[in-house]
Amino acid sequence: MTDEITVPKGLVNVIVDKTAIATTDNSGNLLYRGYRAVDLVEKKSFEDAAYLIVYGKLPGQREREEFIGKLRSNFGVDENAREVISILKEKDLMRSLRSIVSFYPYKHTEPDDLMIEMAAKFPEFISLSYRLAHGLESLKPIEGTYAERFYHLITGKSDPQKAKYLGILMILYMEHEFNASTFALRVTASTLADPISSFTTALATLKGPLHGGANAEILDFFKNFKSTDEAVKYVDEQVAKGEKVMGFGHRIYKRLDPRAQFVKAKLKEIAPDSRILQIAEAVENRMWEKKSVPANLDFYAAIYMDILGIPQDFYTPLFAASRVFGWVAHYKEQLADNRIIRPSSKYVGPFDLKL
Ligand code: ACO
Repeated sequence: MTDEITVPKGLVNVIVDKTAIATTDNSGNLLYRGYRAVDLVEKKSFEDAAYLIVYGKLPGQREREEFIGKLRSNFGVDENAREVISILKEKDLMRSLRSIVSFYPYKHTEPDDLMIEMAAKFPEFISLSYRLAHGLESLKPIEGTYAERFYHLITGKSDPQKAKYLGILMILYMEHEFNASTFALRVTASTLADPISSFTTALATLKGPLHGGANAEILDFFKNFKSTDEAVKYVDEQVAKGEKVMGFGHRIYKRLDPRAQFVKAKLKEIAPDSRILQIAEAVENRMWEKKSVPANLDFYAAIYMDILGIPQDFYTPLFAASRVFGWVAHYKEQLADNRIIRPSSKYVGPFDLKL
C-alpha cells in the first residue's frame, strides 16, 4: 500500500478533522463556538449554552423561547418504556441509560428533532432508572429551568440556588471537541448510522473510567481518608506503583484544566471550610510535585456534586446529560461534510500459516 502514515498510539496530537464547535485557545481556555466556557457559565443559562453549542450562535429572545418550548415538548416518558425500566431495575445508571436510549420509542424520526428529543429525555431517563431500581416512586417533574428540573429529578428537592450551581457544572461538561465519546459518536455517524445508534456508542464510551466514569470513582477515594497526610501518602504509593490517580491528567490540558480551576474556585465560595476540599488541594499539589499532571474537571466536579447533595450514582449520567448537547452538534457537523472514518492498522500477526 502507498501513502501510509503511522500516527502515535492513542492518536496523541493527531488532528483528524475540523470542527467549529469547541477548542482550547493558546492560553489554555476552553472555547465554545468562540466564547470562553467559563464566561458562559457566569452570564448564560444552561439552555442558552446548549442552544449555542447546537446551533452555533447565542439565541435571541424568540429563539430562546422556541428552544425551551422544544425541550419541554419532549419531556415525559412513554408508559411502555417506563414498564421496561421498572423490570430492568438496573442500579448502574450508565448501563441503564445506555439501554433506554437505544430502545426508547421516540416520536420524532427527522434527525435534528430526534436528537433534541433524545437529549431532553436524559434527565428523566436517569431519574426514573435510579428511583425504580431503588424501589422509589417516580418523581413528578417540576416547572422551572432545565437545571432546576434536573436537580429536582435527582434529589427530589426544589432548590433554585443549588440548581444554579448544577447548571454551571453542566455547562462545563457540555462539550470538549474530539474527546473519546464524541469521537466514537462521529465514527458511528460517519457510517450513516442513525442518531440513536450514534448516541448509544457515545454513552458506551463515556462510561469508561478513563473518561466520564472517572468522576464516579473519585469520592470513594476521599471517603477512605481521615487526614490530608493519609491522602498524600496514598498518592505517593500510587505513583510509586505506577498506578493512576483518578481525576488527574488530561490529553489536552497538560498544565491546568481551566474547568477544574473554575469549579475549585466555586467550591471555595460554596463550602470554604470543607475538609474534602482541603484534602483535595493537598492531593492536587502532591500530584503536581510527583508527576506534573493537573487535576482535571472530574476531580473537583465530584466534590462539587457531593456538596450539592447529588448521590454518587448520578455523577457520570449527569456528565452524559450535559455532553449530549455536544453530541447533537457533532452528529450534525460530521454529516454536513462526511467521509467514513476508517483508519488502517499495522498487522503484527503471522503470515502464511498452513492448515
Ligand atoms: N495518575 C498518575 N499519573 C498520571 C495520570 C494519573 N491520573 N494521568 C497521567 N499520568 C501520567 C502517566 O503515567 C504518564 O506518565 P509517564 O510519562 O511517566 O508514563 C503521563 O502522565 C502521561 O499520561 P498518559 O496516560 O500518557 O496521558 P493520556 O493523554 O494518554 O491520558 C487520561 C489521559 C486518560 C485522562 C489519563 O490522564 C488518565 O488515565 N487519567 C485518570 C482518569 C481520569 O481522571 N479521567 C478523566 C479525564 S477528564 C474527563 O473525562 C472530563
